[in-house]
Amino acid sequence: MKSPTLGLCTLLLATLPLINAKADVITLRFSHVVAPDTPKGKGALLFQQLVAQRLAGQVQVEVLPNGTAFDDANELQALQDGKVDILAPAISKLTALSPKLKLFDLPFLFENRAALDHFQTRPSGKQLLLSLEKVGIIGLAYWPNGLKQLSARKALREPGDAKGLVFRIQNSDVLQTQFEVLGASAVKLPFNQTLQALANGTVNATENTWSNYWSQRLDQQQRYFTETNHGALDYLLIVRADRWRTLPFAVRSTLEEIIDQVTFEVKKQSEAENQRDRARIAATGGSEILTLTPEQRARWREAMRPVWQRYEGEIGAALLKAAETSN
Ligand code: LMR
Repeated sequence: MKSPTLGLCTLLLATLPLINAKADVITLRFSHVVAPDTPKGKGALLFQQLVAQRLAGQVQVEVLPNGTAFDDANELQALQDGKVDILAPAISKLTALSPKLKLFDLPFLFENRAALDHFQTRPSGKQLLLSLEKVGIIGLAYWPNGLKQLSARKALREPGDAKGLVFRIQNSDVLQTQFEVLGASAVKLPFNQTLQALANGTVNATENTWSNYWSQRLDQQQRYFTETNHGALDYLLIVRADRWRTLPFAVRSTLEEIIDQVTFEVKKQSEAENQRDRARIAATGGSEILTLTPEQRARWREAMRPVWQRYEGEIGAALLKAAETSN
């Protein structure tokens, strides 16, 4: 008869390779603050799926959506402390770490999405991906969400209509200036506190993309939207430099290929996703979407223009010129 001890040893020996194999799998934790059904949320899931297909047994990605693990007030610290490996914050939230990134927050800088995409693939745009290296972070890719719109409890047709309103903004000085030049004020708040702040009256206006408005149902607190397309909400896919560089070379190369593929898909689909969510907001009948005449839009552009001068020194005239050239 087989001794029970021998049986246990055989079992342990048989499972040992499995335990070892599991321990060797690299886990990359990807945290973000939006819903899964948004351009960034979908990008994160596609990344997870492609890694599972192409790096099975070597790398796995854990996606932590909706700010449930870390919200945007603490996700950067979590990255630097090694509690997460990948983030995709809005570029606005990285401007305090790299002043040159303030370029992307300048209102009405790029005439359309194509101009912005073009700039991001040019040498000056690519260079900005590396502008966070001094704080130990590497930018791997730009992921678009979409163009930003304004919303408020009152109709905003002319720049003067914004006077006296209190806008919720992302953590960015440029965005603060953008509303101050209109005679409004701005409060920097994490994304997941926005709905509550609009509901309890801490703020009464904001700016965001259609997908972010819809996925948080911010439209339930904002009667009026103005389709200004005055700026873009784009993300930087970022990793901690030391984590990235210590990954095996072959793994890193495959991850880079996967990131290129995901970036392509996010770019391809984000605009359609935003238009889908615009239509959903319109269909509720609870909000009104105002479109601007070219003359009205020109007046918003003119009113916000002083923001450029304010930040030109920090951004650099050459970079600003390169961005304008993309138009
Ligand atoms: C916001 O705070 O409004 C956005 O940056 C949220 C996001 O990640 O899209």
